[in-house]
Amino acid sequence: MAKPKKAPDIMSKIVALCKRRGIVFPSSEIYGGVGSSYDYGPYGVEIKNNISKLWWNEMTLSHDNIVGLDSAVILHPKVWESSGHLKNFNDPMVDCKTCKSRFKADDLKLDVEVTVCPRCGNKDTFTDVRHFNMMFKTNIGALEAEGSEGYFRPETAQGIYLDWKLVQETARLKLPFGIAQIGKAFRNEITPGNFIFRTREFEQMEMQFFVRPGESSEWMEYWRERRMGWIHSMGVNPDKLRWHQHPKDKLAHYAREAWDIEYEFPFGWQELEGLHDRGDFDLKSHQEGSGKDMSWFDPQAKERFLPHIVETSAGLNRAMLMVLCDAYREDEQAGDKRVYLSLDPRIAPIKAAILPLVKKDGLAEIAKSLVDDLRGKFSIFLDIQGSIGRRYRRMDELGTPFAITPDYQTLADNTVTVRMRDSLEQERISIDAVAGYLDDKLKVV
Ligand code: GAP
Repeated sequence: MAKPKKAPDIMSKIVALCKRRGIVFPSSEIYGGVGSSYDYGPYGVEIKNNISKLWWNEMTLSHDNIVGLDSAVILHPKVWESSGHLKNFNDPMVDCKTCKSRFKADDLKLDVEVTVCPRCGNKDTFTDVRHFNMMFKTNIGALEAEGSEGYFRPETAQGIYLDWKLVQETARLKLPFGIAQIGKAFRNEITPGNFIFRTREFEQMEMQFFVRPGESSEWMEYWRERRMGWIHSMGVNPDKLRWHQHPKDKLAHYAREAWDIEYEFPFGWQELEGLHDRGDFDLKSHQEGSGKDMSWFDPQAKERFLPHIVETSAGLNRAMLMVLCDAYREDEQAGDKRVYLSLDPRIAPIKAAILPLVKKDGLAEIAKSLVDDLRGKFSIFLDIQGSIGRRYRRMDELGTPFAITPDYQTLADNTVTVRMRDSLEQERISIDAVAGYLDDKLKVV
């Protein structure tokens, strides 16, 4: 007898939806793919851009004292010596001698004597723990000679520390102030996985807040509240969010205090983003490494010191995965299963779908002229072909909050229906009022 098919779990359904609807594709698929490397399709790139715009608005435009920076990915190689990454940015790793699988020693908790390989089940099969530096190496310039070795940045933060004085002077900032940056970071992760949760190439949204020594604790409090508030503001279920404080013996080499916001993904509670009190570790290290003065002269107190840094560090891809998992819904409509993404309209890749009831009788032309009116103001999608039910379903799966339908009544009174994605309620409005209606309902980002 054939084995009954196992129902796909929620994560497999989200991954399949992302591929089916042009949100996220496995990278280099025609060559068999690269482990845990992904491309963001036409709608994924919109979702990612919308989240990053919301973050930028929250972290820079909403403050008088926070500015942006876009620093290089490949910095001077000495940066990583000074920052401590060459020495400390390691993951303890073990290999299974039987099946050759590689694990993070922390994941296996080898300190509590795991002797069975979780993949092949063999006993007493692990190599000794080795330390594996997670930075990606490259060669700068044409020669592979010693001294030309460089690294792809594993965090965007370091570029901010190197430029902090130039930014402070040119933007005429006084403490406390912040520098924000969104950009790619690279880590040769031993165990990437869980779709876009942990990859070797990802984007960070980081903000480094420079404060007077002794003021870090109050700013940590402030930023903890703001960061959690921002995540709530995207409509994420608060019951799936919590704080985790890092114990002192598990702190990263640069941190004096660290808190993670965790989200309950379908694969369990996991770090979403981190807040770190980095003290003067970074400025001091770069001052020593470069021989250049990294201090600040406080004109009020008439004293010179190294500012301390409070960091908020979020992964953009991880934030997107959280938003997708949180928005994923299944329900039943007239006996049919429906899948939809209940996305915040500001994050939805398409704000409104224009779906004429039928193609004929002039309804397609009315729809096209409505699209002409809305183009450039909102991201919209015109879909004329096929059954209206199927067209609604496709837009639901992409999280499109509004579907606007010219129908036979439109011919009589120039009104259209607006269908809401989540409640499926419909209202009738004048076709001339559609742009204003969407303006009211959406804060366009
Ligand atoms: N500058 C501090 C820093 O980089 P981190 O805790 O190592 O701190 C911050 O990383 C955030 O970057 C994480 O909370 C996560 O959202 C994201 N992140 C880190 N490694 C990642 C990876 N391999 N794939 C996707 N996102 C990652």
